[in-house]
Amino acid sequence: MDLKKHIRDIQDFPKPGIGFKDITTLLINPEAMKEALNQFVDLAKGKGITKVVSMESRGFFFGPMIALEINAGFIPVRKPGKLPAETIAQEYALEYGTDTLEIHKDAIQKGDKVLIHDDVLATGGTAEAVVKLVEAAGGEVVQLDFIIDLTFLNGIDKLKGYQVNSLVQY
Ligand code: PRP
Ligand code: MG
Repeated sequence: MDLKKHIRDIQDFPKPGIGFKDITTLLINPEAMKEALNQFVDLAKGKGITKVVSMESRGFFFGPMIALEINAGFIPVRKPGKLPAETIAQEYALEYGTDTLEIHKDAIQKGDKVLIHDDVLATGGTAEAVVKLVEAAGGEVVQLDFIIDLTFLNGIDKLKGYQVNSLVQY
């Protein structure tokens, strides 16, 4: 199945000049969703992964599904002030300004083998921040798996030395 056929292009969203890749059209189709999940499971299985970490918001669609399928725990990375227990925070650069992501300090155990999942790899700033969070918490990043890699933004350059996979590239 060609997953690209299930990803909708929305021009000028959220701002003029930006072409948005809309995965809601993939999520609404159970066959497409299952195909994406199967591909993620094939990429992850047999690697001893113990935790799947994904980031608010769009990483939460597939993150828990992948975790369940490979019998790993799921850990949410959230925007500031949302996690109730003690957190580690990591700032990252946006086009204008900065943002912060947080993880629970006690979510990862030493020796955990971690898969990081998000919907899109764009500039790589978000994923780089999550790599830092996982490592600061004592985890080993085994790989990063995305639905979409916007390769023209070279996000992969921020993830040198890590295994990066994507189901669809633009
Ligand atoms: C989007 C997308 C990725 C991130 C990729 O999330 O879901 O998480 O941007 O961009 P980057 O590689 O340039 O860092 P966004 O921050 O828009 O929030 P959302 O997931 O809550 O919609
Ligand atoms: Mg996101």
